[in-house]
Amino acid sequence: MFSHLPATPDDPILGLMAQFRNDPRASKIDLGVGVYRDEAGRTPILDCVREAERLRLAEEDSKSYQGMAGDPAFTAAIEALALAEHPVRRDQRVFTAQTPGGTGALRVAAELIRHSRPDACLWLPDVSWANHPSVFQAAGLRLREYPYYDPHSQSLRADALLAALAQVPAGDVVLMHACCHNPSGVEIPDRLWPEIAALAQRRGFVPLLDMAYQGFAEDLDRDAAGVRTLAAAVPEMLLCTSCSKNFGLYRERIGALSLIGDGARTTAAAGSVMLGRIRNLYSMPPAHGAAIVARILTRPTLTAQWRDELAAMRERIRRMRALAASRLAATGLQRDFGFIERQRGLFSFLGISTAQVDRLRDEFAIYLVGSSRMNLAGLSAGNIDYFADSLATVLRERPGPAPVSAP
Ligand code: LMR
Repeated sequence: MFSHLPATPDDPILGLMAQFRNDPRASKIDLGVGVYRDEAGRTPILDCVREAERLRLAEEDSKSYQGMAGDPAFTAAIEALALAEHPVRRDQRVFTAQTPGGTGALRVAAELIRHSRPDACLWLPDVSWANHPSVFQAAGLRLREYPYYDPHSQSLRADALLAALAQVPAGDVVLMHACCHNPSGVEIPDRLWPEIAALAQRRGFVPLLDMAYQGFAEDLDRDAAGVRTLAAAVPEMLLCTSCSKNFGLYRERIGALSLIGDGARTTAAAGSVMLGRIRNLYSMPPAHGAAIVARILTRPTLTAQWRDELAAMRERIRRMRALAASRLAATGLQRDFGFIERQRGLFSFLGISTAQVDRLRDEFAIYLVGSSRMNLAGLSAGNIDYFADSLATVLRERPGPAPVSAP
């Protein structure tokens, strides 16, 4: 059965983790996989998480099954974090299930779309998270692309995006990154969300918001502005959230899928279909991550502590963005790297060729994704000069072709 199978190539992002781990060079810098790092290069366990885990150990009184939708305290809290006191919640138009990470939410969403409307196309931005296409294709969905990122100006192709969305057929699904676009760091500005919402309403496409970085751009509420604007305008929508980054719970695999329906009855029915998909896929989600998040979000002291720790992560990333832009300017390179400071979240494209990415890795032990996506949180005051000087060497000695933009 298996002997004829060719090996699957390394994942473009996760494959780098192993390469980096095995690199013995002391000067190595990991700007690859999307995890937050502190000034010492660690991905810390948040203090509020440690305290919530301590409470859980003391309070947990059973290991019995929790059910397909997961922990109700978690689903209520994560829904409120995304939507606040939104009318769709009051009107019982939201159904949320806990999922194994944000990727689990995407896969369940894909199954639900395929089940509900097998002919629907899923529209992705022309650069997106490297794993997006395969998650949706694995569920049998057809993919289309809409214009998003301009590699020459390192900014949003807003007019082209609106023009493309104005042609999306009714019933198709359009995935948008709610904030901190992965991989470009280029966000949809607040002023555009109402226009996108009006297009969704007029055309009848279903928005799918992927919110993996709530709190990493501006703050928890502003980062959810697009989600809330769309939810107020459209009859149906999907929202995938992740607690990997903002709670630092990467390996706990904790996320959620929320479905917004056009009425309480239809939402409950669609929610039951979602649970059916979950039952087929993995029966029910693991409990630990949800128990931590639920405790943090339902106890005011822990919530306040979490908000402070989240703000500290966000501010460090922003400081590293400013530092990278200024140190790269100081190298005297002709290129303007000011865009790094303007973008948000963990990532920006450096805009260098694959050969230059390879050279940074092979010669200088600096790891980026092949598309030149760099994780700004991998920089620190201690390695920024080495990074800037190495990049300047690579760019001076072999000027690269036009910036690459493939995820
Ligand atoms: C990333 O984009 O690097 C992260 O979301 C990790 C992953 O699973 O790809």
